[in-house]
Amino acid sequence: MNKDLKHIQEDIDIFATDSFEELDKFRLKYLGKKGTLTLLFDNIRDIAPEDRKEFGKNINILKTKILEKVEQLKQSIESSKVHTVDSLDLTCPANSVSLGSRHPISIVTQKLCSIFEKIGFTVSEGPEIEDDWHNFEALNFPPEHPARDMQDTFFIGKDPDIALRTHTSSIQVRVMENNKPPVRVICPGRVFRNEVVTARSHCIFHQIEGLYIDKNVSFADMKQTLLYFAKEMFGSHVKIRLRPSYFPFTEPSAEMDISCDICGGKGCNLCKHSGWVEIMGCGMVDPNVLKNAGIDPDVYSGYAFGMGIERMTQQLYKTKDIRLFFENDIRFLEQFKAI
Ligand code: PHE
Repeated sequence: MNKDLKHIQEDIDIFATDSFEELDKFRLKYLGKKGTLTLLFDNIRDIAPEDRKEFGKNINILKTKILEKVEQLKQSIESSKVHTVDSLDLTCPANSVSLGSRHPISIVTQKLCSIFEKIGFTVSEGPEIEDDWHNFEALNFPPEHPARDMQDTFFIGKDPDIALRTHTSSIQVRVMENNKPPVRVICPGRVFRNEVVTARSHCIFHQIEGLYIDKNVSFADMKQTLLYFAKEMFGSHVKIRLRPSYFPFTEPSAEMDISCDICGGKGCNLCKHSGWVEIMGCGMVDPNVLKNAGIDPDVYSGYAFGMGIERMTQQLYKTKDIRLFFENDIRFLEQFKAI
């Protein structure tokens, strides 16, 4: 290669730029109409005939090199442009990320669990399709007993032994069968009752059941635990009251009310002008139930309580129609903030 061409080759090798303008100038300097290489090519006749072939070949090599260099620099300028800080407006608002929200029933279930977890309860779950023993018989509902009418049951197929659980008390039996006392659990879950769907009741709803079994557990222990719960859930100003009631699996049984949060106990529509709102059933576990689950009632005693989570959620968020919880209308659901 002659000296001129060598010089050009070096020039190509060292050339670098980050501007399209400079790059274009570089291309024209060699390949433009009056570019160095174009002129050399035009004047190829001045070269001695024996050197012409070699000379032409070298010019072509340099031409290709220039074209490659131009293409390569063009790409690197383009990609660096995208990332330069100049082209990035850091004050631009980011694309909004729309987050989902928790279902109100989940929010309240979690709150309930965490209140009881703080005082040593653990969470247990059980099957939604239950057998008669765990849903009824072990809980002191003998076959054909009228107490079964309290919970209209969905059966599955023709087998009268298999049904959708009507309450989470069925988990209570399973926990006692599988664990030695002391037992301290809460059992949240979905339950099913064959009832007409209205604004106040639904055929599917959620309950949470609590169970505590140990030596010397008394009614007073239960009352204290439930008072703690009510204050954590609704605020320290809340009062509770227990009214005698009946459940086959607890003796004595009670219904717990809290002072109405809307009227502060004076009486309003929500509490039907009584000043109190019923929130759960509770009582001392019947000795028969302990025996059925393999626990000696002469050594151990315990209490159980159970409440409807929809009812609790309606209290907290003042929603009027229970059906809204099952329709999954996003506009309704996204209004609930964690508590
Ligand atoms: N299982 C009862 C119901 O569904 C609630 C309850 C649970 C009552 C535990 C007393 C003790 O109505």
